[in-house]
Amino acid sequence: LNYFVFSGRFMKLIFLEEVDSTNEYLKRVEFCHGLCVVAEKQTGGKGRRGKKWISEKGKGLYVSFMFSPISYQIASLSSLAFGVAVLNVLKTLDKRFYLKWPNDIYINGKKISGILPELLSDRLIIGIGINLNYTRDELSSLEVPATSLFAEKIPFDKHSILDKLILEVENYYELLKKKAFNVKEFEKNCPLIGKEVSVIEEHKQFNGIALGIDTNGCLVVEVEGKIRRLFSGNVSIRL
Ligand code: BTN
Repeated sequence: LNYFVFSGRFMKLIFLEEVDSTNEYLKRVEFCHGLCVVAEKQTGGKGRRGKKWISEKGKGLYVSFMFSPISYQIASLSSLAFGVAVLNVLKTLDKRFYLKWPNDIYINGKKISGILPELLSDRLIIGIGINLNYTRDELSSLEVPATSLFAEKIPFDKHSILDKLILEVENYYELLKKKAFNVKEFEKNCPLIGKEVSVIEEHKQFNGIALGIDTNGCLVVEVEGKIRRLFSGNVSIRL
């Protein structure tokens, strides 16, 4: 990775052999806008809602991007926009990838990639993990059924994935800045929409029909005839 030439326009890259978490690393640096950090291994990889993210050496892509200053508008839709960015990259390898609101990427009913956005005053950190070389066994103990490109027998090149990812992330950041990101782009790649879903929100569970995603990025669910808008932070969804 040290000799990696990439096509990004404004990102600056830092490669690390090992780090606690690429998100935490970016919280510690002073200068920030357009910084991207990639690690071979994380000793404290973090997932959403306080979970761990499996981060063994060379088995995944562990990368975080920093944008600053950032407006509330960009921050609120960033989960969805960067989810589409990652999806576009993976779709160049196989068309069967899809999104699960708010920002997971799935194939064959199993999760292959997740995004951890963190907003600290006006800094936005977008952490992206993609499972590359894990075997089914190595992923079998995770809470959510998970998979990797290797386990799905999808050939890939790590450098090319990272190169495309940087470009896509730059593109979607520009779209967000111009207020030109359309949530429909997410919706049409999210098979959850139109289906009955089970929602766990702050330890309470309820069933409803996922109607769509509103312009703020909330999932709109009909529950017993009433409309509820779910924010991504504390919700877990099952089909
Ligand atoms: C999730 O789906 O729960 C989000 C997973 C995010 C994982 C990535 S790996 C790079 C970055 N650093 C972290 O500690 N987490 C994110």
